[in-house]
Amino acid sequence: MILNVCNFMKNFKLFIITVASVLLLISCAGDKKEKKNSSVEVEKEVVKKSSENDVYKVVVTGDDFMKFNRNKITVSVGQKIELTLKHTGKLPKAAMGHNIVILKQGTDVATFAQKAIAASENDYIPEDDTDVIVNTKMLGGGESDTITFTAPTEKGEYDFICSFPGHYAMMRGKFVVE
Ligand code: CU
Repeated sequence: MILNVCNFMKNFKLFIITVASVLLLISCAGDKKEKKNSSVEVEKEVVKKSSENDVYKVVVTGDDFMKFNRNKITVSVGQKIELTLKHTGKLPKAAMGHNIVILKQGTDVATFAQKAIAASENDYIPEDDTDVIVNTKMLGGGESDTITFTAPTEKGEYDFICSFPGHYAMMRGKFVVE
């Protein structure tokens, strides 16, 4: 009788473990699906190999969920660019501020972000810093800013981030010059 109870307990344990694993698998699969749906839209546009006078217009949005809508901006060497950042959220600048900062090649993003935290009085852009190629204003919900500049003449990948404290981990991408 005791043996039977033991066996039953063993089987019951096995059963519970199996059910738990199945549930875990299902929840993991669900997570994956969700991640896929909410992942940042990857740039599909073809770069226009335009004449020097053409201005390449790019719009990037940032939201209340600490996300840019794209993680890649591709331009041609020396191209004129009109970059617009739109904050599509509702939260104020002090709580969910967003900007775009394009950094020189070789800049350590984490180190720069750390310096930026100390520059709160300058909208989180470290003053007299040589790492920044160009940056937009820091925006709150509903605001937008447009900057025009010329793409670097050196081909390669440049990092862009939002320099609001803690945002660069989520809000970052590559500015590709080809
Ligand atoms: Cu931000």
